[in-house]
Amino acid sequence: MDKILITGGTGYIGSHTAVELINAGYEVEILDNLANSKASVIDRIFEITGVRPVFHQVDLLDSSAVLKVFKEGSFSSVIHFAGLKAVAESVEKPLLYYENNVGGTLNLLKAMYETGVSRIVFSSSATVYGDIPIGGHGFTEDMPTGRGITNPYGRTKYMIEEILKDICISDPTFSATILRYFNPIGAHPSGLIGEDPNGIPNNLMPLVMRVARKEMPELSVFGNDYETPDGTCIRDYIHIVDLAKGHLAALSHAEPGVAIYNLGTGRGTSVLEMVAAFEKASGESLPYRTMPRRAGDLPIVFADVSKAFSELGFKATLSVDDAMRDTLKFLRNQ
Ligand code: NAD
Ligand code: UFG
Repeated sequence: MDKILITGGTGYIGSHTAVELINAGYEVEILDNLANSKASVIDRIFEITGVRPVFHQVDLLDSSAVLKVFKEGSFSSVIHFAGLKAVAESVEKPLLYYENNVGGTLNLLKAMYETGVSRIVFSSSATVYGDIPIGGHGFTEDMPTGRGITNPYGRTKYMIEEILKDICISDPTFSATILRYFNPIGAHPSGLIGEDPNGIPNNLMPLVMRVARKEMPELSVFGNDYETPDGTCIRDYIHIVDLAKGHLAALSHAEPGVAIYNLGTGRGTSVLEMVAAFEKASGESLPYRTMPRRAGDLPIVFADVSKAFSELGFKATLSVDDAMRDTLKFLRNQ
């Protein structure tokens, strides 16, 4: 049986991917330093799947501990989620982000090399497309990347993509699948795992959850004067279970060389439409206030998803309404 190491596997996307991999028959081990997640997620994965993955509480910056995990592991592949992801924090603490995300990835890649593991699936982001205007079309994977990225977090994703491309040039047996996520939302339908960041969240849905739990009085809607039908920004929100399944598809199609796929739905939803969808699912109103635009936000971001469909057979099937229902289930379980 293929054994997969999931870095960042107690985090939001990693935990859902662990569930899908285990359900598909893979053996999974998880490495995480718990900087933004909780060890109890391992119990939740066990509750959902009946399998308790081996957990290594290890920091990717600890190169000898990482190497030890690999020497004892016999992994066939790595799915690399571990990283810091708070855009605003990355502007304040660029060194932390470059060290953790790029430095951590270098340690990981060195340990893979030393132990002969030559397949990686990497969590990248739509942010690498920077500020290319897309008009009415989605971003395609062949569009240029790296220009107009507004923050160090985004640049770490771009840099890691370039590092992986260089490794594949130097070693034709190495396989790197780069997945560019759009906006993951929702939770596992069991309500047992979901997005539960430590500290103050940055993303829309965790903030919606805080307002729903009355931990915040209202949601700030950043800008209502964009050139969109209701004036608020449009994003491509993909249900976390669909996103997790995208990793399964990527893993089973991985070949030597670099392959890059967008993981999104190809559909856009505005901030106000998200608020309305949450209100519909919960039956309660969600207080919000319109605030000035947030620096660095693009008006419209959505994926062209045709490559993932034609090459991986991957297509998102769940809706924003499904994600709202599952988010509420997770919220009520807390
Ligand atoms: P998350 O914070 O829930 O998960 C990341 C995990 O990595 C956390 O559990 C954290 O403790 C761990 N981690 C961080 N630094 C580490 C280190 N040095 N050593 C070991 N573990 C470390 O975030 P997520 O939403 O699950 O995101 C997973 C990946 O996907 C990240 O790389 C993120 O940048 C990327 N991504 C996320 C989104 C999104 O909107 N959630 C969008 C695009 C890309
Ligand atoms: N938003 C609000 N109020 C909030 C938070 C967000 O109105 O309190 C709006 C934002 O302005 C944006 C939308 O909700 O229009 C989504 O914002 P998020 O912060 O949830 O997501 P982003 O699209 O800004 O960022 C996401 C990922 C990043 C990634 C980026 C690439 O979180 O990791 O997509 O496009 F870099």
